[in-house]
Amino acid sequence: MPQSVLIIGGSSGIGQAIAQQSSAEGAVVSVISRQAAPIASPWFWYQDALQSQHSSQDCIEQALQHKPDTIVICNGVLHDAQGLPEKTIRHLDSAILTQRLQSNVVIPAQYLQALFRYLSRTPQIKVLVLSAKVGSITDNQLGGWYSYRMSKAALNMLVKNLSLEVQRLNPSASIVTVHPGTTDTALSEPFQSNLPTGQLQTTAHTAQRLLQVRDALTPQHSGNLLNWDASILPF
Ligand SMILES: NC(=O)c1ccc[n+]([C@@H]2O[C@H](COP(=O)([O-])OP(=O)(O)OC[C@H]3O[C@@H](n4cnc5c(N)ncnc54)[C@H](OP(=O)(O)O)[C@@H]3O)[C@@H](O)[C@H]2O)c1
Repeated sequence: MPQSVLIIGGSSGIGQAIAQQSSAEGAVVSVISRQAAPIASPWFWYQDALQSQHSSQDCIEQALQHKPDTIVICNGVLHDAQGLPEKTIRHLDSAILTQRLQSNVVIPAQYLQALFRYLSRTPQIKVLVLSAKVGSITDNQLGGWYSYRMSKAALNMLVKNLSLEVQRLNPSASIVTVHPGTTDTALSEPFQSNLPTGQLQTTAHTAQRLLQVRDALTPQHSGNLLNWDASILPF
């Protein structure tokens, strides 16, 4: 049973549900988020305005005082006020592409860099970075969603690379990307009406499934993109 869980990008719908469930299981929960701590937060909460790499590093150092054995990175943007995902390359906008790469790859990369020493030294550490099946190049039969797909494919490579580097120093570490399954959050909200019945999961159900993935993780899984049922998805 895990004792301490750190959730980065912890205001996300899925991140909040993981925090609640972990807390209910008796784990110490720490959150790093751009958002301010809610009043009377039951969790350790570190606000990171993402102003500089240094400020993110400070947040990580504070959160590591709680010696997490599980770290979940939830940061990811599919749409915002600037734009919806592109249906065609004619809609590709370099500024939006740059923003998606920033939020979906650069920010997780900075956090993982700040965590590197800890990951290299902590026995049985488990890291789940939330990615998406649509970031699988092999699985892509539909096209579209250029910026999101490209950024998640790059995230998968980031985590694969890191897993190899950490493995040489700490063979007991398990570091993976995970597709959480389509979940009822702000991220999926504009696209929910077209889903087949039964595909949309509640955040509580997704959190439960992701914590089961965490429980099943071994160092042999490291570097892979896992589905919500812990099966391996192709890159
Ligand atoms: N919901 C789904 O159906 C689904 C499907 C496949 C994959 N995913 C992935 O699962 C993860 C969590 O998604 P969710 O559905 O819970 O989404 P959500 O509720 O919309 O949460 C958004 C997340 O992205 C972070 N974020 C937002 N804008 C950002 C920015 N400009 N820079 C850096 N971080 C930013 C937020 O961090 P703060 O706490 O700092 O605000 C939060 O962690 C994402 O990586 C998403 O791609 C979700």
